[in-house]
Amino acid sequence: MDNKIISLRTPHLILAGFGASERLGQEARAIGAWKALVVTDRGVVDSGTGKKVRGLLEKEGIGAETFDRVISDPDVGCLEACLDMAKEEPYDLIVGVGGGSPMDIASITSVMLTNPGTVYDYFGINLVKNPGVPTILIPTTAGTGAEVTQNAILTDTREKLKKAVVSPYILPRVAIVDPSLTLSMPPSVTSSSGIDALTHAIESYTSNNATLLTDLFAKEAIIRIGQSLRTAVANGNDLEARYGMAIGSLYAGISLANAGVTAVHALAYPLGGQFNVAHGIANGLLLPYVMEFNVLGNISKFAHIAHLLGERVESMTLRDQAYQASRAVKAIYRDLVIPQSLTELRVPKEAIPGMAKAAIQSTRLMVNNPRTMTVQDIERIYENAL
Ligand SMILES: [Fe+2]
Repeated sequence: MDNKIISLRTPHLILAGFGASERLGQEARAIGAWKALVVTDRGVVDSGTGKKVRGLLEKEGIGAETFDRVISDPDVGCLEACLDMAKEEPYDLIVGVGGGSPMDIASITSVMLTNPGTVYDYFGINLVKNPGVPTILIPTTAGTGAEVTQNAILTDTREKLKKAVVSPYILPRVAIVDPSLTLSMPPSVTSSSGIDALTHAIESYTSNNATLLTDLFAKEAIIRIGQSLRTAVANGNDLEARYGMAIGSLYAGISLANAGVTAVHALAYPLGGQFNVAHGIANGLLLPYVMEFNVLGNISKFAHIAHLLGERVESMTLRDQAYQASRAVKAIYRDLVIPQSLTELRVPKEAIPGMAKAAIQSTRLMVNNPRTMTVQDIERIYENAL
């Protein structure tokens, strides 16, 4: 029997489905907003979504300005630039639109407007004292789950490490997940963000912090992403696949927000911080190798992942089923044609000891890992991925 206390923290409101973004103006009105800062990136502006978002706000009489200089894997400098603009006017709503980067910058900007000091004071868990300016987050990719999580990630340029501001105040007032906004995403973004979502689902399902309630979301996410990811990458206009990815990513995000992620993310962060490897690619490459190591920590759950991914495993032993899950994930990754090894990502063997030392310091994530990991274990996992 699982006697953990079940809890679920989510945004006040989640709207999901084709056309959900049309409700933005109404929801902003319901919050009582008069002046909104839209935080986004050039790609979202160029796709026309930035203009659409402003139009929806203005239709409800809400003034809107745009900060469109969020970079991918943003650093402290990017946050400061956004914060400078946010302080120019009395904004009472921040709308984050885009992938994880604009949504995270929007969330941190919101709390930095109401808390003293700099962001360095808030890297860590539950250090934010005051609720931020209300936020509405609208993903245009299906992957990060940033619209439903209480972690916002920034690169600490001084330490070349990704750091997280973890607080319930990072959660938005409203999360709006509209698969139609993902239709213009190129295959490279669909694959890297999609494999990030799959990582969230699998890691949170096998996390030591998982509960019966997070399992509901994680299992459904694994099924939907397993069924949709390849098609969404191969044919971006396939509405069913885009819907499956949007909902799968949302569910994976809810599960991750409450059960946490494990060693894959811990091992992926140094790749991002030191070698600029995109978050989803770093996770996707390492996921099967970490799963292979973790199998012994929770054989029945890893075996169940193979079932959820549609593998034919009925005649296998439970242990073989569990190992089949990592093979199934590796096959998905191979089909998505993203770099297949650390060597292809120009990460040299000599970097492994330093990365392993950095990874094990992500104690927030490592405590969730179903199998205890030493620095030597981590080095071996990186070596397997060379
Ligand atoms: Fe992630």
